[in-house]
Amino acid sequence: MSLLDDVKYLLSEAQENIEKAASLDVLNELQIKYLGRKGSLTAILKKLKDLPVEERKQTGAFANQSRKQLEEFFKTAKEKYSTKREKTFFDPTLPGTNPRVGVVHIINQVIGDICQIFYGMGFEIAEGPNVETDYYNFEALNFPPDHPARDMQDTIFVEGGRLLRTHTTPVQARVLEKQKPPIKIITPGLCFRNEAISTRSHVAFYQVDGFLVDEGVTMADLKGALVAFCKAFFGEDLKLKFRPSFFPFTEPSAEVDISCFLCKGKGCQVCKYSGWLEILGCGMIDPNVLENVGIDSEKYTGYAFGMGVERPAMLKYKINDIRLFFNNDLRFLKQFE
Ligand code: DAH
Repeated sequence: MSLLDDVKYLLSEAQENIEKAASLDVLNELQIKYLGRKGSLTAILKKLKDLPVEERKQTGAFANQSRKQLEEFFKTAKEKYSTKREKTFFDPTLPGTNPRVGVVHIINQVIGDICQIFYGMGFEIAEGPNVETDYYNFEALNFPPDHPARDMQDTIFVEGGRLLRTHTTPVQARVLEKQKPPIKIITPGLCFRNEAISTRSHVAFYQVDGFLVDEGVTMADLKGALVAFCKAFFGEDLKLKFRPSFFPFTEPSAEVDISCFLCKGKGCQVCKYSGWLEILGCGMIDPNVLENVGIDSEKYTGYAFGMGVERPAMLKYKINDIRLFFNNDLRFLKQFE
């Protein structure tokens, strides 16, 4: 095989490899392999001097032409990977395109608003696990094993004897167990109950509990805190009603109704023409609960309250279906920018 044949072979091989090359790195490597100082074509050219004059001229000319051709091939192949943009006309007076920005989920906004109000009253935030033990969800909170109040909670049980917490109240037990009074905490979080999903109830929902334990805490402190909260959250011109109720972990217990801020208490569809909206549960922490977590109930007293998040959110923003919070429909969520 003559040197000319070598050049021809090299040219076609190189051309084929350039076409197959799938990245800029590969192209660079090929360029060094064929055209570099120690490359194949250079090696062939070095042998030219041994050829007879005529053949040397012919082969030399062809080799130079092949080098130019390969350089051209490499250049075109590399253009595909070039990051340099073509300069186009840029009009700085045109309005910019806004990047798409996400929105904080309306439920998180409401949780944020609730926490902010209590934060302003000196409460700190604590969180607990969604998968709870029977002890923290029930027993520490003064639900004896066969207490009928357990039935009201429609508990979802999971493996290992654990359950999905049915309220955020277990965080009370967890915090009280670890900290020493004075303790002033709110506990936002997700809860679960095995309820039929409808416009008004869902298997997953949020609650915020709050509690204060110190010496000499009374029901008057509880009322003061809740009146301040409800006015800050729903509006100043609001009436509150404390209705006697029952919770195993508080004694005495109450439920708080606020005057319907939609009809100003006159009666409407939302308040079912009663003029009142039920908002939260509360009470003085049962001494049994304090003793369960190792706090001296002779020395300390405490109040506690707990509220759902979806219902106040629905009332405040006039949302008529709780499922909208969980459907992730951007058309709904984007309204709360
Ligand atoms: N855990 C109760 C529920 O889910 C709400 C509640 C009522 C929480 C009274 C409290 C409380 O902390 O004091 O229905």
